[in-house]
Amino acid sequence: MTVHFIGAGPGAPDLLTLRGRDLIAASPICLYAGSLVPAELLGHCPPGARIVNTAPLDLDAIMAEIATAHAAGQDVARLHSGDLSVWSAMGEQIRRLRALDIPFTVTPGVPAFAAAAAALEVELTLPELAQSLVLTRTPGRASTMPPAESLTNFAVTGATLAVHLSIHNLAQVVADLMPAYGADCAVAVVWRASWPDQRIVRATLSSIEAAVAGSMERTALILVGPALDAADFAESSLYAQGYDRRFRPQHAGSRYAGSSE
Ligand SMILES: C[S@@+](CC[C@H](N)C(=O)[O-])C[C@H]1O[C@@H](n2cnc3c(N)ncnc32)[C@H](O)[C@@H]1O
Repeated sequence: MTVHFIGAGPGAPDLLTLRGRDLIAASPICLYAGSLVPAELLGHCPPGARIVNTAPLDLDAIMAEIATAHAAGQDVARLHSGDLSVWSAMGEQIRRLRALDIPFTVTPGVPAFAAAAAALEVELTLPELAQSLVLTRTPGRASTMPPAESLTNFAVTGATLAVHLSIHNLAQVVADLMPAYGADCAVAVVWRASWPDQRIVRATLSSIEAAVAGSMERTALILVGPALDAADFAESSLYAQGYDRRFRPQHAGSRYAGSSE
């Protein structure tokens, strides 16, 4: 018996890996994390599968479901939205599974920030403009932030920011970022990226609050940084003519000439 943690993707049912789909189809039990996991994914469960929405359960109750499956020798597909590496609560479940000696696997999914960037048709890292992406959030009712991980600290870098779980806190996000990024810095809010009712609002730090006007709740991502609307950025060396590289040696004396790697 194995618990398969599966990243269910951002919403569109076809943004699921083939491995994830096959594991769901092979598992007689499916535990899925509430409304962010699209109902269509549950259609991959085998006939007669036990399908449980874990949104109303606490961690002990979820572990009780897994313990029952373990005793019956039945595999569990454990679905969380997006990817499992950020804000999935997988860490605490894995810790308990290790303590109980219950085997598990982890299958990644498409994270919300990638779906939002795709919806915006942008590259979040552009040459010389932004070479880092910060996945972060603001404090919530149930989650404090480590003191050094403040938006004002991240703002000093000028990197592209993907601010999760914070649309209700947009005014504070703007206030924290304005001094470093400036009033004209590009901002985009993507609500329910990849869902059929996806919405996009593009604005600047000074205009984003009015542009959103409280119309978006919960499942929205705030992206901030100059890469979002840059037009005159440098081209990368990777595809530049004359740039000597392993897959495109430029002359016989190239350190890469004759390399088959
Ligand atoms: C609990 S976190 C889950 C993150 C997820 N594990 C991931 O890989 O993206 C939920 C937050 O992710 C963002 N989010 C998740 N799905 C989204 C989507 N389809 N569109 C926009 N934002 C999304 C929102 O900021 C939401 O508040």
